[in-house]
Amino acid sequence: MKSAKATPTPPDKALVLQRSRDHLFPHRIERMASLGVDLVIGRREAYRFWDLDGREYMDFHLNGGTYSLGHRHPQLLEVLRETLEFADIGNHHFPNPARAELAERLAAATGLQYSVFTPSGAEAIDVAIKSARRYTGRRKIVALEQGYHGRSGLSGAAGDDAAAAWFGSDYPAEFIKVAFNDVEAMDLALAGGDVAAVLMETIPATSGFPIPAPGYLPAVKALCERHGTVYVADEVQTGMGRTGKLWGVDCWSLKPDILVTGKCLSGGLYPVSAAVMSREVGAWLAEDGWGYVSSFGGAEPGCAVGCKALELCADPATLAKVESIAAYLGRGLRDIQTRNAFLVEIRQQGLVMGLKFDAPDGGAQMTAALYQHGIWAMFAGFDPSVLQFKPGLLVDTQYCDEALQRFEDALSAITRRSAGS
Ligand SMILES: Cc1ncc(COP(=O)(O)O)c(C=O)c1O
Repeated sequence: MKSAKATPTPPDKALVLQRSRDHLFPHRIERMASLGVDLVIGRREAYRFWDLDGREYMDFHLNGGTYSLGHRHPQLLEVLRETLEFADIGNHHFPNPARAELAERLAAATGLQYSVFTPSGAEAIDVAIKSARRYTGRRKIVALEQGYHGRSGLSGAAGDDAAAAWFGSDYPAEFIKVAFNDVEAMDLALAGGDVAAVLMETIPATSGFPIPAPGYLPAVKALCERHGTVYVADEVQTGMGRTGKLWGVDCWSLKPDILVTGKCLSGGLYPVSAAVMSREVGAWLAEDGWGYVSSFGGAEPGCAVGCKALELCADPATLAKVESIAAYLGRGLRDIQTRNAFLVEIRQQGLVMGLKFDAPDGGAQMTAALYQHGIWAMFAGFDPSVLQFKPGLLVDTQYCDEALQRFEDALSAITRRSAGS
C-alpha cells in the first residue's frame, strides 16, 4: 500500500525572522519592519502568495519580473521535473542539449549570434562589459546615473556610485555616469572615442521606470555607431514580454550589440541569465573557449526551463494579452487618479509601470499601505516617491479588478490619514 505523503509542519515565522535578524541581514529586517512589513513567504501560486501567518497577497513585485509568468507555472514546473529525472547541472566544459537549444532560440529571438549563460543578471552584465572591452580594446563604460545593473564587481561599478564605493569597488575614472534622456550628455561622454560600451537599462527600473523620450534610445544607438562604442541593452527587467514586445528595445526598433536577459528566463525556478551578443562583439568566443567559465552558468535544468519560458513569453497570444491587460490596468489607474490627486503620474510601457505620488516618500507610503491591503509592490529604490507596479503577463481582468479595488482602498487610507493629521 502507498503511504500518504506527510504534510510538512509549517516553519515558525517568529523563528525565521529571528534567525534572519541574527545571521542574514539585520538591517533589511529592520527597514522592512519600519514599513510595517514582516513578510515571510510560504505557499505561492500563480500571482498570489501567502505569508507563513496565512495572510494572502497579490504579487505586483514579481522579483522584478522573475515571476512574470507566475509563481510555479505548471508548464515550467513540468519541464524542470522532467529534466531532473535524468540530468543535473551538467559539466561546464561541455555543451548540453538544453544549453545549445536555448542559445539557438535566443539568437533567433534577438537577431544576435552568441549567448554566454550566467547564474545571475549581474554576472551577465559583467560578461557584457568584458566582451565590449575585449572587442574595442577600450576600458571606459558609460552608464546612466539612474541605472541599476546588479551588485557584482563590474555591474555594481556601473550602477549607483555610493553603493559601489561602500565596498571600495567603484572605479570613477572608468565608469562614467550620464543623466537619462540627455542626448547631449551622452554625445559629450562618447566624443573622445575611448568608450567601450554604453550600458542602458531600456527603462530604468530602480528609478521608477521613467519612460525614454521619443527618439532618445535610437539617438544613443546612433552615437554608439558613430564612435565605435558597443550598445548594451540591459533587458533584465524590461525583456521577456513585459512591454508587450518580447524585448523592450523592440518598442523603439533598436537592435543592440549585446542584450542581457535574466529573471523571467529562469521561470523563477532555476537560475539562468544570459549575455547575448553579435558575432563581432562575441568574436572572443571563437578564440578562447575558456574566456568565461562558470560552474552553474548554463546549468541544464535552468536552460531547459529557459527554453519554455522564452517560448511562452514570445508567443503572440501572450504579447497580445499583455497589450490588452496593460490597456485595462492603465484605464483603471487613470480612473482612480480622477478621484485621488495623491497619484500624480502614471508611467507605462505595456506592463512596465511606475506610479508617482505627491510626496518624496509617496511610493514607500504606498508599499506600506498596499501591504496592509493585501498587495505586495515595492517603491523605487532610487526614487521613493515612485511605486514600481509590476503585474504578471498572464493576469486576467478579474484579478485586475480585485487589485485595483485594493489599490484604491490603500490610496484612500493614506489620504484619509494625512487629512486627519
Ligand atoms: C535592470 C537590472 N539589471 C540587472 C539586474 C541584476 O540581476 P540579478 O539580481 O539577477 O543579479 C537587475 C536586478 O534586479 C536589474 O533590475
